[in-house]
Amino acid sequence: MKRGLSARRALEPIETASRDEICALQLGRLQWTVKHAYENVPHYRAKLDAVGVRPEDIRELSDISRLPFTTKEDLRQNYPFGMFAVPREQVSRIHASSGTTGKPTVVGYTKKDIDTWASLIARSIRAAGGEPGDIVHVAYGYGLFTGGLGAHYGAEKLGCTVIPMSGGQTERQVKLIQDFKPDIIMVTPSYMLALGDEFRRQGIDPRTSSLKIAMHGAEPWSEAMRAEIENTFDIDALDIYGLSEVLGPGVANECIESKDGPHLWEDHFYPEIIDPETGAVLPDGSHGELVLTSLTKEALPILRYRTRDLSCLRPGTARSMRRIDRINGRSDDMIIFHGVNVFPSQIEELILGDKRLSPHYVLELGRKGKLDTLDVVVEMREPPQVDPYVADITAKDLARHVKAMVGVSVGVRIAEPGGIERSIGKAKRVVDLRPKD
Ligand code: DLL
Repeated sequence: MKRGLSARRALEPIETASRDEICALQLGRLQWTVKHAYENVPHYRAKLDAVGVRPEDIRELSDISRLPFTTKEDLRQNYPFGMFAVPREQVSRIHASSGTTGKPTVVGYTKKDIDTWASLIARSIRAAGGEPGDIVHVAYGYGLFTGGLGAHYGAEKLGCTVIPMSGGQTERQVKLIQDFKPDIIMVTPSYMLALGDEFRRQGIDPRTSSLKIAMHGAEPWSEAMRAEIENTFDIDALDIYGLSEVLGPGVANECIESKDGPHLWEDHFYPEIIDPETGAVLPDGSHGELVLTSLTKEALPILRYRTRDLSCLRPGTARSMRRIDRINGRSDDMIIFHGVNVFPSQIEELILGDKRLSPHYVLELGRKGKLDTLDVVVEMREPPQVDPYVADITAKDLARHVKAMVGVSVGVRIAEPGGIERSIGKAKRVVDLRPKD
């Protein structure tokens, strides 16, 4: 760890409060949220009326299980502003998902929401070891995506100097990191790898850069990927989690002193883990789908949002607030291949475990006759001259490991150096080439 823990002195009292204090705060805020949503969003009023629940029925935290779930589909059906609980004039910012798979989901923030968000990002940066006065290079995309602007306002709020670089222009990113000497970088883990390659292409050892801390999120990444990034850059890499429907980045963040999964900022969000099939709430420590309820949001209160992210709730360690397990996949990212559930992150771990392979990969789903095929396409670590014999043995080894560890037979193809498209934001790990029938 490059950073000491002096930042710990600046913790907010709630970060180390007792569980009783946290729960009492949550209950008051939950009651406010349900009332606010019921009174101001016709969609919520209709849904609560349909199950016969009134805001006054929320007397304790466990009463939350009486509320219906909210899904992405609910947001789409109320496109664009139907889920807002305040007059549009009070909404000071809009963000939206790309909408590649249907109508975009639109989210809104009041001035106070923006301020809360900035405070949570400031808290997250501090948890990651950042301090006022640090230089923060933001390489999350700016625009309708919540990553860039979300990170930006929080870093400013903490008192940092912000470089609003956004994603892309990889060569320039490296030049500016060399010239401005940032302490912290906020970027997707896959783009961080692309930056590492670009450092080397420019003949610079990434370990010599000024960066001390990286805050990675917006896409799944594995423990092996953390080791890869930390090693490449000689930094601490911390996990930041969030989603636009609930806030954006800054719903949960890992602490540098424990590096044991993100602490969920429970004073602003109420987490549950449910069985994705039955919707039943599961006890802490069980694996299932993370469901989140906002506790303070004004413009877009969200009740029991089904994130589709698979995780688990764990007791707090470095903070009193509970942690979530690293999100290794979404229920809709999962490939069911020959009846076996496969997450890209499982294959990623195996790729990163083989020093001959680079961390750049993609999974291709195809079809031969009636059977689905799954190909892992990956680059070797030491281009430019890849010995075909070594490549062949490496490919066979990986296929064998995948069979042994994941339980499926895959094809492995070694791509040309640079043959795998580099993401500048969220990486696309699965390409579905199966004919549409
Ligand atoms: O990705 C917000 C964000 C920006 C988070 C920057 C962290 C850093 P969305 O575009 O709405 O928002 O996508 C949210 O991304 O449901 C997860 O599936 C995934 N995701 C976000 N953070 C992580 C993470 C932003 N740390 C979706 N680990 C979420 C794994 C993550 N997956």
